[in-house]
Amino acid sequence: MKLQDKVAIVTGAASGMGKQIALLYAQEGSKVVVSDLNLEGANTTVEEIQSKGGQAFAIQTNVAMEEDIQSLIDTTVKTYGTVDILVNNAGIMDNFEPAADIKDENWERIFAINTTSVMRSTRKVLPIFLEKQEGVIVNIASAGGLYGARAGAAYTASKHAVVGFTKNTGFMYAQKGIRCNAIAPGAVETSIASTMTNINQFGASRQQRGMRINPRAGKPEEIAKVALFLAADDSSFLNGTVITADGGWSAY
Ligand SMILES: NC(=O)c1ccc[n+]([C@@H]2O[C@H](COP(=O)([O-])OP(=O)(O)OC[C@H]3O[C@@H](n4cnc5c(N)ncnc54)[C@H](O)[C@@H]3O)[C@@H](O)[C@H]2O)c1
Repeated sequence: MKLQDKVAIVTGAASGMGKQIALLYAQEGSKVVVSDLNLEGANTTVEEIQSKGGQAFAIQTNVAMEEDIQSLIDTTVKTYGTVDILVNNAGIMDNFEPAADIKDENWERIFAINTTSVMRSTRKVLPIFLEKQEGVIVNIASAGGLYGARAGAAYTASKHAVVGFTKNTGFMYAQKGIRCNAIAPGAVETSIASTMTNINQFGASRQQRGMRINPRAGKPEEIAKVALFLAADDSSFLNGTVITADGGWSAY
């Protein structure tokens, strides 16, 4: 088993990629903290893990709230004694708004959930990692964090920021036994489209142009395998980098 006796926190683990990452980590021997805004969904993930003999507990976290991040890490340490792996996965889409149509409240909400949360959980977990000179962070960025129009301007900028934060953190703590990497998934079959409420027609028409060359959508299980690689010692020499997992979409 690749993560025997590790303690992993996965945010947004009630659904999609986060759920599959939680299930796979547990299968590989990790104790998993299943964190999500949706507590009912998180409980279902925990039941699935426990039914297969794994260890996990659910915790309600709104990653946009600083106090929830504090309590997520503190409760993990209280329950399992430490943290070894942090997966910053929770995230939402914008509505494909181009710059002229962005509303401050949407921009701020997307950045709070997709970007500021990653900084806050990293900041909170680092003293634990520094003390033991060991720890792994896996950020779920996006192809939208590497290219220009996979989504609207706010989502694109929020994920570019995650990529920059990942590289900076990886480099800063490279000699402290800590690794920080990101995954840039292409289109993946999850529930994320349900976070889109009022799609911007102009923005969508521009975004759709690149979808024609996407070979296929991925399954969340395929992203979970990359997240396992990044959490395990198999990737010991990978740090401050981004793995694109998009079935070849961006290779064109
Ligand atoms: N699906 C895709 O095509 C795709 C592509 C690239 C990147 N991503 C990224 O992958 C990550 C996971 O998304 P997914 O596609 O699995 O979506 P999903 O909607 O299936 O799962 C996201 C989970 O995050 C939770 N969540 C949302 N807001 C939250 C908050 N404020 N606090 C805590 N939890 C919250 C949701 O309840 C949900 O369980 C996101 O960061 C997303 O941006 C998705």
